[in-house]
Amino acid sequence: MPQSFTRIEVNISLIAGARPNFMKIAPLIPAFREHGLKTRLIHTGQHYDAKMSDAFFEELRIPLPDVNLGVGSGSHVAQISQVMSLLERDFNAVRPQAVVVVGDVNSTLAGALTAVKMNIPVAHVEAGLRSFDRTMPEETNRILTDAISTWLFTTELEADENLLREGISSDKIHMAGNVMIDTLLGNIDRARGTGICRQLGVQKGQYAVLTLHRPSNVDSPERFEQILRAVHELSQRMPVVFPLHPRTRGRLSEFGFGNRNDLNGYTPIEPLGYLSMLGLLADARIALTDSGGIQEETTVLGVPCLTLRENTERPITITHGTNRLVGWRTDDILAALEQALQPASAQRQVPENWDGHAAPRIAAVLAGDLG
Ligand code: UD1
Repeated sequence: MPQSFTRIEVNISLIAGARPNFMKIAPLIPAFREHGLKTRLIHTGQHYDAKMSDAFFEELRIPLPDVNLGVGSGSHVAQISQVMSLLERDFNAVRPQAVVVVGDVNSTLAGALTAVKMNIPVAHVEAGLRSFDRTMPEETNRILTDAISTWLFTTELEADENLLREGISSDKIHMAGNVMIDTLLGNIDRARGTGICRQLGVQKGQYAVLTLHRPSNVDSPERFEQILRAVHELSQRMPVVFPLHPRTRGRLSEFGFGNRNDLNGYTPIEPLGYLSMLGLLADARIALTDSGGIQEETTVLGVPCLTLRENTERPITITHGTNRLVGWRTDDILAALEQALQPASAQRQVPENWDGHAAPRIAAVLAGDLG
């Protein structure tokens, strides 16, 4: 006999603003719908270029946002304060019963803080990650968002431990897994079908992918130059495809690095959409990056990854995955490349709950608590 019960409609607002948020919200929206959570999607407009934003909505079939706050670029204070005052108006009009934020960008903190100031409970997806580097803007965003959230959905056990150490009660913490990996597993076949290698003229398993966008790397002429020296060496051995984040493109020309033979050799391209980037990563010989997400994606894809930073908030990608922390010095990068290019260097164990079902687990907890 079919069960008959009335579902109480629950209104939640889901906030996204910057490129790494979009692949995290994609699986949440259908999972929320499935669990009877009526979702209003708010795009803060932190990222606004077609290639940094629209492409992800189209490719990942994310419904168009109900509202776009259009905050655009600016100082961190300007970005956060503008998102907050515009969100306050929206929340006043709509009165969501809960607000869901993802990741660690300025829009994440702004969404969480606005909600809590208006007595609306917050769920943080990807809670508890810590680089222990307070100079990283994302670290402040993570710590503050976690401190004020009611539900903390984590991707790895070390994140649970970080939260417990910060005095967060264990009943708020749910090790749900990794929503970004839900998106990866759900789209890997489409990604492999993009033909991106053919378009770029590179051979499967015989090229490197480079991404850089952290201010700590690209705003420092010394560090950026050291990294590009190593990339130049690598480019003598294999093609290095380098999709350029807008900040990185700007610094290359500002520092005059684009015209220097000793710092060239890579193939600069425009930022790629989600599917092309995933397709490119999946068949790469190696990735070099300062991104957080790519450390996780390469762990699941089994592609060696050199992280051009001195710390990571995602230690499981080192203990279980293919990631190595190598910093920014030319010699350190070259030494790590030698090791990483050895056969069988990419052995890995896929972390617990990185199984494509994180979003339904999150939706079930929220629906249970709010419904
Ligand atoms: C932000 C996030 C970072 C994330 C990254 C992914 C914070 C603190 N940082 O950094 O965690 O890894 O997104 O990209 O939230 N710009 C454009 N077009 C755009 C967006 C940005 O040209 O659509 C340019 C602007 O010149 C802007 C600069 O990129 O000033 C940086 O953008 P911003 O959102 O401030 O930070 P990101 O470096 O992208």
